[in-house]
Amino acid sequence: GYLYAKNASEQTAPTVTAASGTYVTILYASQTGNAKAVAEQLFDKAQQHNVPVQLQNIVDYKSKSLKKERFLVIVASTNGEGEPPDDAMEFHDFLVSKKAPKIPNLHYAVLSLGDSSYEHFCKCGVDFDERLQALGAQPLLPRVDCDLDYEQPASQWQQSLLEILKAQSSELSAANSDELSNPRVETKYDRAHPATATVLTNQKITGRHSLKDIRHIEFDLDGVGMTYQSGDALGVWFENDMALVEDLLGVLSLDAEQSVIIDEQSVTLRTALTQFYELTQTPPGFVEFWADRSGADELQQLKAQKPLLREYAATHQIIDVVSEYPASVSADELLGALRRLTPRMYSIASSQAEVEDEVHLCVAVVSFKQGEAERFGGCSGFLSRLREGQSVKIFVEANHNFKLPRDHSTPVIMIGPGTGIAPFRAFLQQRDAEGSSGDNWLFFGNPHFTEDFLYQSEIQGYVKSGLLSRIDLAFSRDQANKVYVQDRLRERSKEVYDWLANRGAHLYICGDSTRMAKDVEQTLLSIASEQGQMSQKEAEDWLKSLRCDKRYQKDVY
Ligand code: 2AM
Repeated sequence: GYLYAKNASEQTAPTVTAASGTYVTILYASQTGNAKAVAEQLFDKAQQHNVPVQLQNIVDYKSKSLKKERFLVIVASTNGEGEPPDDAMEFHDFLVSKKAPKIPNLHYAVLSLGDSSYEHFCKCGVDFDERLQALGAQPLLPRVDCDLDYEQPASQWQQSLLEILKAQSSELSAANSDELSNPRVETKYDRAHPATATVLTNQKITGRHSLKDIRHIEFDLDGVGMTYQSGDALGVWFENDMALVEDLLGVLSLDAEQSVIIDEQSVTLRTALTQFYELTQTPPGFVEFWADRSGADELQQLKAQKPLLREYAATHQIIDVVSEYPASVSADELLGALRRLTPRMYSIASSQAEVEDEVHLCVAVVSFKQGEAERFGGCSGFLSRLREGQSVKIFVEANHNFKLPRDHSTPVIMIGPGTGIAPFRAFLQQRDAEGSSGDNWLFFGNPHFTEDFLYQSEIQGYVKSGLLSRIDLAFSRDQANKVYVQDRLRERSKEVYDWLANRGAHLYICGDSTRMAKDVEQTLLSIASEQGQMSQKEAEDWLKSLRCDKRYQKDVY
C-alpha cells in the first residue's frame, strides 16, 4: 500500500510499492507549497471517489518509471524567471533530453501555477505538457495555467479531471482501491481553514536610523493546537488598509455600502475590497482593462509593449492606476478586473522546541513613495499595523525541502542576509533546545551594524555559548566598498569547501532570490572549482548532487 503522511519529515519519503500502471500517479513540483497543496487536494478527492492514486514529490520520482505509467498527473509551479522549481530540475532535464522514451500509452494531465506578471508565465507546466505530448502521450484534458489566485481554476480543473478519471477507473485495477484506504495524517488547519491566533508582540527590530522597517512578530498558539517544524512557512491572510480602501472608493465615486456577491454571499463593497481582493499588487490584465476603460493614450501604448506593461503594473498599486487615469466603473466591473486576495507566506522564525505555543515571524515592511502618497505592501503593511491582542488568520505550510539534518552531529552552514535570517533563528533555537552537537556556521548581512543587526543579542549569546561555532557578518554599507555574504563566503573558501566535501555539512540559503541567492550559488561553484580542482561542469554536477542529497537547500523569494 501507499502511505502519505502530510507531516512526515523530509527524510521519511514515502515508498511506493504499487506497480506503476495500476495507479494514477500524481506528481507535484512545488517551490512554495501551493502546487503541493493542490496535488494533495486532488489526491484526497480521488481517494474519496475510489480512484486508485499515488502521490509523490517530483524530486523522488524515478524517471525510469515513466515508460510503465498509464495515467500521470503533474501539478507544477514556475519560478519567476521561468525556471522549474528546484525539485523538478532533474525530471525537467530528463524530459527534454534525448533519453526520454516514447510514451504512446500514457494519458496525462498538467496543471501549472504561475504569476502572469512575469514574462515566462507558467513555463514549467507548459514545458511538461509540450514534452509529454511530443513523446506521444495523450492529454486527458487541456492544460490549465493558473495565476496567483489559482484556487478557483485549480478546483475546476480537479473536478473535470476527477470525472474523467472516474470514467477510466475500470481500466485501473479495482482491487487496488481496498489497499488505498490508508489514513492520511491530517492537520486541522490549512489555507482554506486557517487558525485564529492573537498577536503577542509586534516590535520594530531595526534601529531608528535604519533604511528598513523590519518587524519581529509573535503570535500566541495557546489552545489553537497548531504545530510546525523549523523550516516551515506561515501563511497569513491579511486585510487591506482601511484608509487605502476608502481612498479607492472615493477616487472611483463608488458607494461603500452597496452589496456585492462573493462566493454566493452578500457583503458590502467596502468589505469586498478590504478582505477579498488584491489592491496592492496590480495584475497586467488590470492595466489593460483600465486602458480600455479610460481610453488613456499612455496605457493604450503599454498594451502593445508587454515588458513595459508588466513594469508599470509591478510599480503601481490599483489606486495609482485609477487616480492617474480617471474613468468610471461599476462595483461589479471593478471586482471582475481585480484578483482575489491570496495569503502571503513567511518563513517561520521560531522553533516549537524553544517557544512551544508561539510562532514568530521576521518581516520587512514594504513601503515606497508614489508622488505624495506613501504606499505599503499588502501583507507586510497589515502586519506592521497589528496591535497586541488582535487576531489574525494563519496556517502552516510545511517545507520538506528546508529541514535541519536528521543527524544532530551534522554541521550546518546557514546563509541568510536580511530577513533571510528567519529560518536560521528557528534552526538555532531547535539545535539549542535539542542539545545538538553539530557545528553551526552563520553568514548574515545587512546595511549597517548599528541599525540592522537583526537578533543581535540572541546571536551574540549563541556565539558565547558555543552553539554558533562560526559567524561571518557582512555589513554592506559600513565601509567604502560594498561587502556581501558571498564575499565573506569567498574569504572562507577553504573552510567552506572542507565542511562540505569532508565533513558532510548541509548548506542552506534563505533570502532574496533575484540577486543574493544567485550570487551565492556562483560563489559556491567557484569555491568548488578552485578548492576541489573541478571544471565548471564538474562543479555544477557536484552542487546538483548536494541538492539531490538534500544537503543544499534554498528558501528564497
Ligand atoms: P545593500 O542594500 O547595501 O546593497 C540585506 O538586504 C543585505 O543584502 C543588505 O546588506 C544588502 O546590501 C545586501 N545585498 C544586496 N544585494 C546583494 C547581493 N546581490 N548579494 C548579497 N547581498 C546583497
